[in-house]
This record gives sequence, C-alpha cells and structure tokens, in this order.
Amino acid sequence: MVSVILPKLGFAEAWRSEARTLLLKGAPPEVVSWRVEGEGGDLFGGFDMADEARYTPIQEPRIPAAFLPLAEAALCHSGPERFSLPYRLLFRLQADRSILQDRSDRDVAALMAMEKSVRRDSHKMKAFVRFREVGGEGDRRRFVAWFEPDHFILERTAPFFARRFADMDWMIVTPGAAALFLDGALSISPCEGRPDMPDDAADDLWRTYYRNIFNPARLKVKAMKSEMPVKYWKNLPEARLIPELIAGAERQVQEMRAAMPTLPSPRAERILSRVGQVDMPDREKVPDTLEEAKSQARHCTRCGLYCNATQTVFGEGETKNPLMFIGEQPGDQEDLAGRPFVGPAGKVFNAALEEAGIDRRQAYVTNAVKHFKFEPRGKRRIHKRPDKGEVIACRWWLDLEKQFTRPKLIVALGATAAYAVTGDGDGILKRRGMLEMSEDDTPVFITIHPSAVLRAGSPEAVAEARAAFTEDMRTLARALADLKT
Ligand code: URA
Repeated sequence: MVSVILPKLGFAEAWRSEARTLLLKGAPPEVVSWRVEGEGGDLFGGFDMADEARYTPIQEPRIPAAFLPLAEAALCHSGPERFSLPYRLLFRLQADRSILQDRSDRDVAALMAMEKSVRRDSHKMKAFVRFREVGGEGDRRRFVAWFEPDHFILERTAPFFARRFADMDWMIVTPGAAALFLDGALSISPCEGRPDMPDDAADDLWRTYYRNIFNPARLKVKAMKSEMPVKYWKNLPEARLIPELIAGAERQVQEMRAAMPTLPSPRAERILSRVGQVDMPDREKVPDTLEEAKSQARHCTRCGLYCNATQTVFGEGETKNPLMFIGEQPGDQEDLAGRPFVGPAGKVFNAALEEAGIDRRQAYVTNAVKHFKFEPRGKRRIHKRPDKGEVIACRWWLDLEKQFTRPKLIVALGATAAYAVTGDGDGILKRRGMLEMSEDDTPVFITIHPSAVLRAGSPEAVAEARAAFTEDMRTLARALADLKT
C-alpha cells in the first residue's frame, strides 16, 4: 500500500507532484491511500518497495488539458474522494484518453459534479464575502471578513479578491485558514476561529445598497433563496432586511403602480422615437416574452450609451434552446442595420461557422451590450470597449434573452461576453476552447472575439488567427454533438 500525506495548504500543488511520481512508477489507484496531514489514517506511510517492483512504470504520463481544471477544482472538494478520484481517473486516462468525453462514465460524472460544486462555492464566496473596516495605516485602509465555505476554496478564490481589492489591505478568515493581503502581497496561512469584527459603517452601506436595488415587483422568494442561500445570511449585514422587505413588497408594488407616469400612446411613441426623442419612460413591467423584451429594449436608458448610438441592437435567431453566441457590442455597421454581426467581424464569424458546419440560422446571436460605443474621429466612428458598469447595466437584457430562449450552450466571443456570463473576463487566451459554467449553470464555451482575427496584424498573422478561430468553432461543433448524444 502507498500512503500519501498532503499538506493542509498547498495541497493542489503537492497532489500534482505526488500523482506524477506515482504515475511514473505505475502505481494503480487501488494501492494508493491519500490523506491530509493531521487528519488520521494509517500510521505507516511511504512507498512499499516490494510492491513497487510489481507495477509497470509509465514512461511519459499524459495529462489531457481538459482534465487539469476539473481535477484542480475537485481537489478542493470537502468529500472523501477529493484526492483519490482524480488520481483514479488520471490513471485510467493513460490507457484511454477518450474517457473524459464520456459523461456517463461514473468517475467522469463524479469529477464533474465535484468541480461544479466547488465552482458554485467559489462563486458564492465572491458574491457574499462582506468586509468590515478595521482601521489602517497610511493611505491603505484595512478590512477583515469572515466566510464559511462548503469546500477548501480559499487558496483558489483569494486571488480574485487580490485583483478586485488591490488598493486595500484585507484578511479573509475561514474555518481553518486565512488569506492575508498586505501591501499588494497575498499569503495564506492556517488559523483557528473567527476574528473579532466590529459592527461598522460598511454594514449600513450594504443595507442601503440592498434596499435600493431591491425591486418589489420582481420579488421571487424561492429564486432569491437559491441565489443567496439562507446559510450565508448570518454573515450578510443586508440579510437582516430581507424579512422586512418581503413583508412590505406587495404594498410597495401597489404604490409604484399608482405613481407610474402616464405613458404616451403607442402612436405618439412611434413618432417620438422616429424623431430621435429617446428619453422614453422605462417600463417598470418585467416583460413576459422575448418580443416584449426586445420592444422595451428599444427605449433603454439603463446606461449613457443610448445617447449616441443609432438604435438598440437586440439579439436574433433561433429562440428555442438555441446555441447562443454572445459578442461584445454592435459595431458601426450593426448600429446602422440594427442587427448583430453583419459587419466585418460578422463576416469572419460567418465564414468560421460555415467551415465548422454550424448553421447560424439555428443559433441565437446577440451582444453583451446592445448599444454601439464609439469615439468620433473625423467622419469615422471608432469602436470603444464598453466598461464594466455598461456591461452590468445591459445584463438586464442579456438575462432576459437567456431566460426566454433557455440556451443549451452559450458561446462567449471575447472577454466582455465572458465577463457578462461568468462574472470573469480575465485571461481569455488561457480559457479559450474550454467549457465553463455560467452563474445559472449553462455551459459556456469560451473563445476569442472574431474582430481579434482582423486586428492580428500581417496577412500571415490574420490567416493564422482565422484558422485558430475556425478550429475553435470545430471544437464547439464537437461539443454540440456531445450534448446531443
Ligand atoms: N462585434 C460584436 O461584438 N458584435 C457585433 O454585433 C459586431 C461586432
């Protein structure tokens, strides 16, 4: 028997190194027992040399690229198979790489379930960590937060906070380990117990924010509890408001209805929109259909982009469980035509789809942001990337498009689209060609934006980028075929 003891922190790296050594020796999974230091198990660890002689060494272990992100997440799972299952699968993959595509395989299904649960936990941590200010020195403010995750996700998730809150010093304490970010350096160390945290002004801020974004007309208690599970409420300052807000929701809706402005007649509205009068009252009504959403979006003033754009460019195409493509925002030609991906980037997109055998007519094509953002330069309108606030404001429409079409698979074309559906727009090249999950659990295929092909530079570089993008579309076509089987 081989007994492997991993450290409490840095376990993923240690597992990788041990797994590689074991694979090289050819140690079959059933002879390996894994555990974390200090967590019980057999007293006598180490490799049994007598046994080792019986194994067939693997000269060059092969690790499929798609396996690593799944395994790295599964290692953080709190279940008993967190280390043994990835190793078992890795060992099996040496003989047959195609196992990973077989979702009915028990090990693959279990690994994916573990990955999903860890990913969700990480999403929840990003959403529900609440910092409290504890003073500070110089111009760096200092904050502390307490969070109780389901899995061992602190090491995995802390870098997100380091990027997001780079200008302050902070500590996130979880049962067993704490992440400390001091003067731009992140460190993780073991710790016990919950820190003393003052009930400070930041809590009031959260409560005010929550009160303001709470829309009683959209209240769905079940959906809210699934988005913000009750187990997190005790550490969320704003959660104290929830019972009160739910109780008052019906009355508030009545008051909102009574206070609604009188709307212009549809005829007056048509005339006003034709003459460019865009400050239509935003309807409070949540649309019941995609068509209704599209029609409301025509008068969208959720961010400032409507002021200079010609019109809202809403999504179009197949609306029943489609393959959904999401771009960044309409370009110059899309802004004039009122349809997504009809300009130069659209041509690259169409050609790649055709070569990969994907029928655009059977897809729903849309953008993360529905108005063209540009900078006038002479007679030209130069594309400007939308900022996060604009993407978030426009997510209202994207969420409605997703809600009404229920896509079976989403394709994020570029960083803005990836950010809009996964909350993470970083490192698009590293994530390219991979399947991730959106916050509502729809698979998301990540690739580059087709306009990046046009910006590649020399004709050779453009040809290369075009071929790589087409290859992504072929991978997508295979993923689609997998979904069907
Ligand atoms: N770029 C996009 O992201 N979307 C379009 O519709 C056109 C260009």
